[in-house]
Amino acid sequence: MQSELLRVDQSRSPQDRFRPDRQRSDCPVLLSQRLVMRAPHEEDIDALAHLANNAAIATMVSRMPHPYTMKDAADFVRRTNIGEIGKCVYAITKAVNGEFLGCCGLEPHSNDDETLEIGYWLGEPYWNKGYATEAAHALIDMAFRTRDIERIDARCRVTNIASRRVIQKCGFQFQGSGMVGNLATGGMMPVEWYRLDRKTWMSLKSWGEMR
Ligand SMILES: CC(C)(COP(=O)(O)OP(=O)(O)OC[C@H]1O[C@@H](n2cnc3c(N)ncnc32)[C@H](O)[C@@H]1OP(=O)(O)O)[C@@H](O)C(=O)NCCC(=O)NCCS
Repeated sequence: MQSELLRVDQSRSPQDRFRPDRQRSDCPVLLSQRLVMRAPHEEDIDALAHLANNAAIATMVSRMPHPYTMKDAADFVRRTNIGEIGKCVYAITKAVNGEFLGCCGLEPHSNDDETLEIGYWLGEPYWNKGYATEAAHALIDMAFRTRDIERIDARCRVTNIASRRVIQKCGFQFQGSGMVGNLATGGMMPVEWYRLDRKTWMSLKSWGEMR
């Protein structure tokens, strides 16, 4: 996968290359082989409302209302643009035609500046094409390159085979399990907790270079 942020400066040492460059903006547009990831905007509202109105998505993420209305979509776009939902929320779109596919983002942990939590969902027509893994790779690379963080966490419902596989394909390691709330059902759901630390990410990124 080719992300804009992966074009590393070969003149810097491996340690420096993988440390944040403070001149970059906090949530830059991300490019990968097939995707453009950018801030959600008003033109996304129709597709967002259509794709997100799906119990198969809402029951897997913690804070998506169900049913999901045009008003929910408009509120989401407005609130992400003023930084009320997460600090780094992206619309995942197809590079070839701008089609809106879903969303992903990074959220800070309360009381822990060194840890971010990754989240993502895609509209059902786009599942199983590798898009979530491609988006997560770009997001993770951006986070470790532009933020002074040490780790990224991911949580998935224990029944969420696809998300667990995305997490594994990004190099996260299992930490434990627990319960989190689910807005759509109003109840709690059992989740698995995974973590990717900076050194593991650096090792994965350097692996090819060392051959
Ligand atoms: C989870 C989700 C984002 C995955 O998106 P995606 O683009 O389909 O993911 P990818 O194609 O990158 O990878 C999915 C992997 O799961 C595998 N998978 C999917 N369903 C599977 C199943 N029933 N059994 C076994 N493997 C399965 C795919 O084969 C693929 O693995 P592979 O590349 O090794 O073959 C998408 O299913 C989704 O949005 N679900 C609803 C919301 C959600 O769960 N969000 C995450 C919350 S933690």
